[in-house]
Amino acid sequence: MKTFTVAVVGCGRIANNAHFPAFAKMDNIRVKYACDLIREKALAVKEKYSFVEQVITDYHVALADPEVEAVFVLTPNFAHYTVTMDALRAGKHVMCEKPITISYALSKEMADEANKRGLMLNIGVCNRYHKSVELLEEMNREGKFGKIYHVYCSFRDFRSIPGLGGAFTTKEQSGGGALIDWGVHFLDLILYVLGGAKLETLTCDAYSEMAKDMKSYKYHKMWAEDTADVENGTNDVDDFITGHIRTDRATISFNGAWAQNLDQRDMYVDFLGDKGGARLDYGKQFVFCNGETLESTQSEHPIPNMYRCEDADFLASIESGVKNRNHIDNVLESAKLLDALYRSAEAKRELRGAEI
Ligand SMILES: NC(=O)c1ccc[n+]([C@@H]2O[C@H](COP(=O)([O-])OP(=O)(O)OC[C@H]3O[C@@H](n4cnc5c(N)ncnc54)[C@H](O)[C@@H]3O)[C@@H](O)[C@H]2O)c1
Repeated sequence: MKTFTVAVVGCGRIANNAHFPAFAKMDNIRVKYACDLIREKALAVKEKYSFVEQVITDYHVALADPEVEAVFVLTPNFAHYTVTMDALRAGKHVMCEKPITISYALSKEMADEANKRGLMLNIGVCNRYHKSVELLEEMNREGKFGKIYHVYCSFRDFRSIPGLGGAFTTKEQSGGGALIDWGVHFLDLILYVLGGAKLETLTCDAYSEMAKDMKSYKYHKMWAEDTADVENGTNDVDDFITGHIRTDRATISFNGAWAQNLDQRDMYVDFLGDKGGARLDYGKQFVFCNGETLESTQSEHPIPNMYRCEDADFLASIESGVKNRNHIDNVLESAKLLDALYRSAEAKRELRGAEI
Protein backbone atom coordinates (compact mmCIF):
# COMPACT_ATOMS: atom_id res chain seq x y z
CA MET A 1 0.00 0.00 0.00
CA LYS A 2 1.30 3.43 -0.95
CA THR A 3 1.89 5.97 1.82
CA PHE A 4 0.55 9.47 1.11
CA THR A 5 2.16 12.65 2.36
CA VAL A 6 -0.50 15.18 3.32
CA ALA A 7 -1.07 18.60 4.87
CA VAL A 8 -3.99 19.52 7.10
CA VAL A 9 -5.32 23.06 6.89
CA GLY A 10 -7.51 24.00 9.87
CA CYS A 11 -6.87 22.44 13.29
CA GLY A 12 -10.20 23.11 14.97
CA ARG A 13 -13.02 20.88 16.18
CA ILE A 14 -13.51 18.56 13.20
CA ALA A 15 -9.74 18.12 12.85
CA ASN A 16 -9.38 17.16 16.51
CA ASN A 17 -12.59 15.18 16.91
CA ALA A 18 -12.60 13.29 13.63
CA HIS A 19 -9.71 13.46 11.18
CA PHE A 20 -6.58 13.35 13.38
CA PRO A 21 -8.03 10.42 15.39
CA ALA A 22 -8.74 8.74 12.02
CA PHE A 23 -5.17 9.37 10.76
CA ALA A 24 -3.83 7.86 13.99
CA LYS A 25 -5.42 4.55 12.96
CA MET A 26 -4.30 4.65 9.33
CA ASP A 27 -0.94 3.25 8.34
CA ASN A 28 -0.66 4.80 4.87
CA ILE A 29 -0.70 8.48 5.76
CA ARG A 30 2.20 10.78 6.61
CA VAL A 31 1.05 14.14 8.02
CA LYS A 32 3.89 16.46 7.09
CA TYR A 33 2.10 19.71 8.02
CA ALA A 34 -0.57 20.80 10.47
CA CYS A 35 -1.58 24.33 9.55
CA ASP A 36 -3.75 26.82 11.40
CA LEU A 37 -3.90 30.60 11.33
CA ILE A 38 -3.78 30.31 15.11
CA ARG A 39 -0.39 28.73 15.71
CA GLU A 40 -1.34 27.42 19.17
CA LYS A 41 -4.08 25.27 17.63
CA ALA A 42 -1.66 23.60 15.23
CA LEU A 43 0.90 23.20 18.02
CA ALA A 44 -1.72 21.55 20.25
CA VAL A 45 -2.40 19.02 17.50
CA LYS A 46 1.31 18.24 17.10
CA GLU A 47 1.60 17.80 20.84
CA LYS A 48 -1.27 15.32 20.87
CA TYR A 49 -0.38 13.47 17.67
CA SER A 50 3.35 12.81 17.56
CA PHE A 51 3.15 11.70 13.91
CA VAL A 52 2.56 15.35 12.85
CA GLU A 53 5.91 16.57 11.53
CA GLN A 54 5.67 20.34 11.16
CA VAL A 55 3.47 23.20 12.32
CA ILE A 56 2.77 26.12 9.98
CA THR A 57 0.39 29.09 9.88
CA ASP A 58 0.53 29.76 6.12
CA TYR A 59 -0.84 26.88 4.04
CA HIS A 60 1.08 28.09 0.97
CA VAL A 61 4.22 26.62 2.57
CA ALA A 62 2.66 23.15 2.28
CA LEU A 63 1.38 23.83 -1.24
CA ALA A 64 4.92 24.72 -2.35
CA ASP A 65 6.27 21.42 -1.02
CA PRO A 66 6.45 18.82 -3.83
CA GLU A 67 6.28 15.99 -1.28
CA VAL A 68 2.72 16.95 -0.33
CA GLU A 69 0.26 15.02 -2.49
CA ALA A 70 -3.00 15.79 -0.79
CA VAL A 71 -4.50 18.50 1.42
CA PHE A 72 -7.27 18.16 3.98
CA VAL A 73 -9.27 21.40 4.09
CA LEU A 74 -10.88 21.60 7.54
CA THR A 75 -11.47 25.35 7.79
CA PRO A 76 -14.78 27.23 8.22
CA ASN A 77 -17.10 27.05 5.19
CA PHE A 78 -16.14 30.34 3.49
CA ALA A 79 -12.45 29.37 3.40
CA HIS A 80 -13.13 26.01 1.68
CA TYR A 81 -13.23 27.68 -1.74
CA THR A 82 -9.96 29.64 -1.56
CA VAL A 83 -7.87 26.99 0.16
CA THR A 84 -9.18 24.22 -2.11
CA MET A 85 -8.68 26.22 -5.31
CA ASP A 86 -5.14 27.17 -4.26
CA ALA A 87 -4.37 23.54 -3.44
CA LEU A 88 -5.75 22.28 -6.75
CA ARG A 89 -3.80 24.92 -8.67
CA ALA A 90 -0.68 23.71 -6.83
CA GLY A 91 -1.40 20.20 -8.14
CA LYS A 92 -2.64 18.67 -4.87
CA HIS A 93 -5.59 16.32 -4.38
CA VAL A 94 -8.08 17.68 -1.85
CA MET A 95 -10.40 16.30 0.78
CA CYS A 96 -12.60 19.25 1.83
CA GLU A 97 -15.05 19.23 4.73
CA LYS A 98 -18.78 19.68 4.14
CA PRO A 99 -20.58 21.79 2.93
CA ILE A 100 -18.61 22.15 -0.32
CA THR A 101 -18.66 25.90 0.23
CA ILE A 102 -21.12 28.77 0.71
CA SER A 103 -22.86 28.63 -2.70
CA TYR A 104 -23.54 26.24 -5.56
CA ALA A 105 -21.83 28.51 -8.12
CA LEU A 106 -18.53 28.39 -6.21
CA SER A 107 -18.95 24.65 -5.57
CA LYS A 108 -19.28 24.08 -9.32
CA GLU A 109 -16.09 26.08 -9.95
CA MET A 110 -14.26 23.84 -7.48
CA ALA A 111 -15.50 20.72 -9.28
CA ASP A 112 -14.52 22.13 -12.68
CA GLU A 113 -11.02 23.04 -11.46
CA ALA A 114 -10.42 19.55 -10.02
CA ASN A 115 -11.71 17.82 -13.13
CA LYS A 116 -9.74 20.08 -15.46
CA ARG A 117 -6.55 19.18 -13.61
CA GLY A 118 -7.35 15.48 -13.22
CA LEU A 119 -7.12 15.76 -9.41
CA MET A 120 -9.37 14.14 -6.82
CA LEU A 121 -11.60 16.49 -4.85
CA ASN A 122 -13.69 14.79 -2.20
CA ILE A 123 -16.22 16.31 0.19
CA GLY A 124 -16.69 15.30 3.83
CA VAL A 125 -20.28 14.14 3.59
CA CYS A 126 -19.23 11.44 6.03
CA ASN A 127 -22.67 9.88 6.48
CA ARG A 128 -22.28 8.18 3.10
CA TYR A 129 -19.75 6.01 4.94
CA HIS A 130 -22.00 5.42 7.94
CA LYS A 131 -22.79 1.69 8.06
CA SER A 132 -26.55 2.33 8.53
CA VAL A 133 -26.67 4.58 5.47
CA GLU A 134 -24.67 2.06 3.43
CA LEU A 135 -27.14 -0.67 4.39
CA LEU A 136 -30.21 1.48 3.61
CA GLU A 137 -28.77 2.37 0.19
CA GLU A 138 -28.14 -1.32 -0.49
CA MET A 139 -31.64 -2.31 0.71
CA ASN A 140 -33.19 0.25 -1.61
CA ARG A 141 -31.20 -1.08 -4.58
CA GLU A 142 -32.31 -4.61 -3.67
CA GLY A 143 -35.97 -3.50 -3.68
CA LYS A 144 -36.59 -4.09 0.04
CA PHE A 145 -38.62 -0.86 0.23
CA GLY A 146 -40.51 -1.44 -3.01
CA LYS A 147 -40.96 2.10 -4.26
CA ILE A 148 -39.83 4.77 -1.80
CA TYR A 149 -42.48 7.44 -2.32
CA HIS A 150 -41.66 9.83 0.50
CA VAL A 151 -38.79 10.63 2.84
CA TYR A 152 -39.23 12.80 5.91
CA CYS A 153 -36.40 14.07 8.02
CA SER A 154 -36.14 16.00 11.23
CA PHE A 155 -32.96 17.64 12.48
CA ARG A 156 -34.24 19.65 15.41
CA ASP A 157 -32.69 20.41 18.73
CA PHE A 158 -33.45 22.51 21.80
CA ARG A 159 -31.85 26.01 21.88
CA SER A 160 -28.38 25.18 20.56
CA ILE A 161 -27.26 27.79 18.00
CA PRO A 162 -23.50 27.33 17.49
CA GLY A 163 -21.01 30.17 18.07
CA LEU A 164 -23.69 32.89 18.05
CA GLY A 165 -22.42 36.01 16.31
CA GLY A 166 -19.39 34.23 14.82
CA ALA A 167 -18.68 32.44 11.51
CA PHE A 168 -21.49 29.90 12.01
CA THR A 169 -24.21 32.58 12.13
CA THR A 170 -22.75 34.99 9.55
CA LYS A 171 -24.18 34.07 6.13
CA GLU A 172 -21.23 35.52 4.25
CA GLN A 173 -18.94 33.07 6.04
CA SER A 174 -21.18 30.03 6.52
CA GLY A 175 -23.59 30.17 3.58
CA GLY A 176 -26.50 29.70 5.99
CA GLY A 177 -27.56 28.21 9.30
CA ALA A 178 -29.32 25.00 10.33
CA LEU A 179 -29.94 23.92 6.73
CA ILE A 180 -26.38 24.17 5.41
CA ASP A 181 -24.80 23.01 8.68
CA TRP A 182 -27.04 20.09 9.70
CA GLY A 183 -29.43 19.74 6.78
CA VAL A 184 -26.50 19.13 4.42
CA HIS A 185 -25.89 15.76 6.09
CA PHE A 186 -29.56 14.74 6.10
CA LEU A 187 -30.48 15.79 2.57
CA ASP A 188 -27.22 14.45 1.15
CA LEU A 189 -27.71 11.02 2.70
CA ILE A 190 -31.32 10.95 1.49
CA LEU A 191 -30.25 11.66 -2.10
CA TYR A 192 -27.53 9.03 -1.70
CA VAL A 193 -29.99 6.36 -0.52
CA LEU A 194 -32.49 7.28 -3.24
CA GLY A 195 -29.67 6.95 -5.79
CA GLY A 196 -29.52 9.66 -8.45
CA ALA A 197 -32.90 11.34 -7.89
CA LYS A 198 -33.43 14.36 -10.13
CA LEU A 199 -34.80 17.54 -8.53
CA GLU A 200 -38.09 18.74 -10.03
CA THR A 201 -39.65 21.38 -7.75
CA LEU A 202 -39.02 22.62 -4.25
CA THR A 203 -40.21 25.13 -1.71
CA CYS A 204 -38.69 26.26 1.55
CA ASP A 205 -39.20 28.68 4.45
CA ALA A 206 -36.38 29.87 6.68
CA TYR A 207 -36.70 31.56 10.07
CA SER A 208 -34.30 33.35 12.37
CA GLU A 209 -36.39 33.77 15.48
CA MET A 210 -34.56 32.54 18.55
CA ALA A 211 -31.71 35.04 18.78
CA LYS A 212 -33.04 38.23 17.23
CA ASP A 213 -31.50 39.93 20.24
CA MET A 214 -28.22 38.05 20.56
CA LYS A 215 -27.37 39.46 23.97
CA SER A 216 -30.50 38.12 25.62
CA TYR A 217 -30.48 34.72 23.87
CA LYS A 218 -30.71 31.88 26.40
CA TYR A 219 -29.32 28.54 25.40
CA HIS A 220 -29.33 24.95 26.41
CA LYS A 221 -25.96 24.38 24.73
CA MET A 222 -23.67 26.26 22.37
CA TRP A 223 -20.99 24.35 20.55
CA ALA A 224 -18.24 26.46 18.92
CA GLU A 225 -18.77 28.91 21.79
CA ASP A 226 -15.14 30.03 21.41
CA THR A 227 -16.13 31.67 18.10
CA ALA A 228 -19.23 33.43 19.49
CA ASP A 229 -19.46 37.22 19.44
CA VAL A 230 -22.83 38.31 20.80
CA GLU A 231 -21.62 41.88 21.40
CA ASN A 232 -20.43 42.83 17.91
CA GLY A 233 -21.09 39.82 15.69
CA THR A 234 -23.77 38.91 13.16
CA ASN A 235 -26.69 36.50 13.17
CA ASP A 236 -28.34 36.53 9.75
CA VAL A 237 -28.93 32.81 9.19
CA ASP A 238 -31.76 30.31 9.68
CA ASP A 239 -32.29 28.76 13.11
CA PHE A 240 -35.41 26.95 11.82
CA ILE A 241 -36.02 25.68 8.31
CA THR A 242 -38.81 23.71 6.65
CA GLY A 243 -39.33 22.56 3.10
CA HIS A 244 -40.78 20.20 0.54
CA ILE A 245 -38.93 18.76 -2.46
CA ARG A 246 -40.26 16.82 -5.46
CA THR A 247 -37.83 14.53 -7.28
CA ASP A 248 -38.41 12.02 -10.07
CA ARG A 249 -38.18 9.25 -7.42
CA ALA A 250 -39.76 10.44 -4.18
CA THR A 251 -40.91 13.55 -2.41
CA ILE A 252 -38.89 14.74 0.56
CA SER A 253 -40.03 16.97 3.42
CA PHE A 254 -38.04 18.25 6.33
CA ASN A 255 -37.96 20.38 9.46
CA GLY A 256 -34.68 21.51 10.96
CA ALA A 257 -33.91 23.61 14.00
CA TRP A 258 -30.64 24.66 15.57
CA ALA A 259 -32.91 26.10 18.18
CA GLN A 260 -36.56 25.77 19.13
CA ASN A 261 -38.67 26.26 22.23
CA LEU A 262 -39.15 22.54 22.68
CA ASP A 263 -36.90 20.71 25.07
CA GLN A 264 -36.40 17.95 22.56
CA ARG A 265 -33.80 16.57 20.16
CA ASP A 266 -35.37 14.88 17.12
CA MET A 267 -32.77 13.62 14.66
CA TYR A 268 -34.11 10.98 12.32
CA VAL A 269 -34.95 10.10 8.73
CA ASP A 270 -38.07 8.13 7.70
CA PHE A 271 -37.97 6.26 4.38
CA LEU A 272 -41.52 5.31 3.35
CA GLY A 273 -41.81 2.63 0.69
CA ASP A 274 -44.85 0.68 -0.52
CA LYS A 275 -43.26 -2.64 0.60
CA GLY A 276 -41.26 -1.50 3.59
CA GLY A 277 -40.18 1.50 5.57
CA ALA A 278 -37.32 2.45 7.82
CA ARG A 279 -36.59 5.00 10.50
CA LEU A 280 -32.91 5.88 10.74
CA ASP A 281 -31.91 7.16 14.15
CA TYR A 282 -29.43 9.69 12.77
CA GLY A 283 -25.83 8.59 13.32
CA LYS A 284 -26.99 5.32 14.84
CA GLN A 285 -29.01 2.23 13.91
CA PHE A 286 -32.33 1.93 12.07
CA VAL A 287 -35.60 0.02 12.37
CA PHE A 288 -36.94 -1.64 9.21
CA CYS A 289 -40.65 -2.43 9.01
CA ASN A 290 -41.64 -5.10 6.49
CA GLY A 291 -45.08 -4.24 5.10
CA GLU A 292 -45.88 -7.88 4.23
CA THR A 293 -44.92 -9.67 7.45
CA LEU A 294 -45.64 -6.61 9.60
CA GLU A 295 -42.39 -7.36 11.41
CA SER A 296 -40.10 -4.59 12.58
CA THR A 297 -36.41 -5.33 12.85
CA GLN A 298 -33.89 -3.25 14.75
CA SER A 299 -30.54 -3.16 12.93
CA GLU A 300 -27.67 -4.32 15.11
CA HIS A 301 -24.63 -4.08 12.88
CA PRO A 302 -21.32 -2.71 14.14
CA ILE A 303 -20.65 0.89 13.09
CA PRO A 304 -17.06 1.47 11.97
CA ASN A 305 -15.70 5.01 12.23
CA MET A 306 -17.11 6.86 9.22
CA TYR A 307 -14.36 9.49 9.16
CA ARG A 308 -11.67 6.85 8.97
CA CYS A 309 -13.61 5.12 6.19
CA GLU A 310 -14.00 8.35 4.17
CA ASP A 311 -10.36 9.39 4.66
CA ALA A 312 -9.03 5.94 3.77
CA ASP A 313 -11.27 5.73 0.72
CA PHE A 314 -10.14 9.20 -0.40
CA LEU A 315 -6.51 8.02 -0.43
CA ALA A 316 -7.55 4.78 -2.14
CA SER A 317 -9.33 6.76 -4.86
CA ILE A 318 -6.19 8.80 -5.56
CA GLU A 319 -4.28 5.56 -5.98
CA SER A 320 -6.90 3.90 -8.18
CA GLY A 321 -7.91 7.03 -10.12
CA VAL A 322 -11.55 6.01 -9.63
CA LYS A 323 -13.90 8.70 -8.27
CA ASN A 324 -15.67 7.38 -5.17
CA ARG A 325 -19.04 8.20 -3.58
CA ASN A 326 -17.71 11.37 -1.90
CA HIS A 327 -16.13 12.78 -5.05
CA ILE A 328 -17.43 16.31 -5.60
CA ASP A 329 -19.15 15.22 -8.84
CA ASN A 330 -21.37 12.96 -6.72
CA VAL A 331 -22.08 15.63 -4.10
CA LEU A 332 -22.89 18.59 -6.36
CA GLU A 333 -26.59 17.67 -6.56
CA SER A 334 -27.05 18.07 -2.82
CA ALA A 335 -25.13 21.39 -2.93
CA LYS A 336 -27.47 22.53 -5.70
CA LEU A 337 -30.42 21.48 -3.55
CA LEU A 338 -29.25 23.50 -0.52
CA ASP A 339 -28.63 26.56 -2.67
CA ALA A 340 -32.05 26.33 -4.32
CA LEU A 341 -33.81 25.85 -0.97
CA TYR A 342 -32.28 29.07 0.32
CA ARG A 343 -33.28 30.88 -2.88
CA SER A 344 -36.84 29.59 -2.52
CA ALA A 345 -36.99 30.81 1.08
CA GLU A 346 -35.65 34.20 0.04
CA ALA A 347 -38.15 34.52 -2.84
CA LYS A 348 -40.96 33.00 -0.74
CA ARG A 349 -42.11 30.83 -3.62
CA GLU A 350 -41.67 27.43 -5.22
CA LEU A 351 -38.78 26.94 -7.66
CA ARG A 352 -39.20 24.63 -10.65
CA GLY A 353 -37.00 22.86 -13.20
CA ALA A 354 -34.32 25.15 -14.63
CA GLU A 355 -34.77 27.62 -11.74
CA ILE A 356 -33.23 24.98 -9.45
N1 LIG B 1 -18.39 16.22 8.76
C1 LIG B 1 -18.88 16.65 9.91
O1 LIG B 1 -19.64 15.96 10.56
C2 LIG B 1 -18.50 18.03 10.41
C3 LIG B 1 -18.68 18.32 11.76
C4 LIG B 1 -18.28 19.59 12.21
C5 LIG B 1 -17.75 20.51 11.33
N2 LIG B 1 -17.63 20.19 10.00
C6 LIG B 1 -17.10 21.17 9.04
O2 LIG B 1 -15.71 21.34 9.27
C7 LIG B 1 -15.33 22.68 9.00
C8 LIG B 1 -14.60 23.24 10.21
O3 LIG B 1 -15.49 23.28 11.31
P1 LIG B 1 -14.92 23.32 12.80
O4 LIG B 1 -16.09 23.18 13.70
O5 LIG B 1 -13.77 22.38 12.95
O6 LIG B 1 -14.40 24.84 12.87
P2 LIG B 1 -13.31 25.44 13.82
O7 LIG B 1 -13.54 26.90 13.83
O8 LIG B 1 -13.27 24.69 15.10
O9 LIG B 1 -11.92 25.11 13.08
C9 LIG B 1 -11.53 25.71 11.88
C10 LIG B 1 -10.07 26.10 12.01
O10 LIG B 1 -9.63 26.58 10.73
C11 LIG B 1 -8.68 27.61 10.97
N3 LIG B 1 -8.53 28.37 9.76
C12 LIG B 1 -9.43 29.22 9.16
N4 LIG B 1 -8.93 29.71 8.03
C13 LIG B 1 -7.70 29.18 7.86
C14 LIG B 1 -6.68 29.34 6.89
N5 LIG B 1 -6.84 30.13 5.84
N6 LIG B 1 -5.51 28.67 7.07
C15 LIG B 1 -5.35 27.87 8.16
N7 LIG B 1 -6.27 27.69 9.11
C16 LIG B 1 -7.43 28.34 8.97
C17 LIG B 1 -9.26 28.37 12.15
O11 LIG B 1 -8.28 29.14 12.81
C18 LIG B 1 -9.81 27.23 13.00
O12 LIG B 1 -8.89 26.78 13.96
C19 LIG B 1 -16.63 23.44 8.68
O13 LIG B 1 -16.74 23.58 7.30
C20 LIG B 1 -17.72 22.55 9.22
O14 LIG B 1 -18.94 22.66 8.48
C21 LIG B 1 -17.96 18.97 9.54
